Amino acid sequence: MDRVNKKTLDIFVADYLPPHADWKSWTHPKTGEVYEVTLSTSTAVSAADFESCFRLIEDTSAEDYKKSSDGWKPRAKKKEMQLLDLKYFLVKHNQKVEGFVSFMPTYEDDYPVIYCYEIHLSSSLQSTGLGSILIGHLEAIGVNIPETEKTMLTCFTSNAQAVRFYEKLGYVKDPYSPPPKQLRNGTKVEAAYVILSKPIER
Ligand SMILES: CC(C)(COP(=O)(O)OP(=O)(O)OC[C@H]1O[C@@H](n2cnc3c(N)ncnc32)[C@H](O)[C@@H]1OP(=O)(O)O)[C@@H](O)C(=O)NCCC(=O)NCCS
Repeated sequence: MDRVNKKTLDIFVADYLPPHADWKSWTHPKTGEVYEVTLSTSTAVSAADFESCFRLIEDTSAEDYKKSSDGWKPRAKKKEMQLLDLKYFLVKHNQKVEGFVSFMPTYEDDYPVIYCYEIHLSSSLQSTGLGSILIGHLEAIGVNIPETEKTMLTCFTSNAQAVRFYEKLGYVKDPYSPPPKQLRNGTKVEAAYVILSKPIER
C-alpha cells in the first residue's frame, strides 16, 4: 500500500481508475445540472475546498459527533482531513464543493483495504444516487489494486440513513467492529459506531 500511495496522482489515476472519463462529471437526476468530479491528493486540495468539505461534515454530522463520547473536535477533524495519504473525489458546481468522498488505500488490522474516511453530500445532492456512484469509485479502485481485500468505513450507529445506505450497497458489520458494551447491571449498550466492510470481488 505504501507503493500505491507513493504514486503520483497521474499514475494513480492511470493505474487504478477506469480508463474512460465517465467519473469526471455527474448529472443531477432531478435538476439536470452537470457537476465536475475531480480526484486530488490531500495536499493538492485548496484551503477553500478543504473549508467547504469541513463545513459539509459539520452540517451533516457534528450532531452525531456531539452525541458520542469523543465529542465534536473541529481542530482534530481538520488535522485528520489533511493526512498525507488521503485522496479526495470532489464534486463541484460553479467551483463550489457540494459533495466529496475521502479515502486511503491502507492496512487495517493487517488487511489491505480501501478505507473510506468521509462521504458527505450537501442536502440537494442527497438521495440522488451520487453516494452510491462515489462509493462505486472506491470499490473500482480496490478491484484494480491487486492486494486489496475489502472496502471499509466507520459509521455512527445513530446515523440510521447512512447505515441503511451502506447495507443496501452490500456492506456488513466487520469482525473488527466494536462489540456492544456490557453495563454493570448486565444491560448491553450498542457501541456509538460500527465498522462496515465489503469484500472486493474480482
Ligand atoms: C449517506 C450519503 C452519502 C448517501 O448518498 P445518497 O446519494 O444520498 O445515497 P444513494 O446513492 O443511495 O441514494 C439514496 C436514495 O436515492 C435514490 N436514488 C438512487 N438513484 C437515484 C436517481 N438516479 N434518481 C433519483 N433517486 C435516486 C435511491 O433509491 C435511494 O433511495 P432509498 O434509500 O429511499 O431507496 C448521503 O445521503 C449523505 O451525504 N448524507 C449525509 C452525510 C452522511 O451521513 N455521511 C455518511 C457518514 S458515515
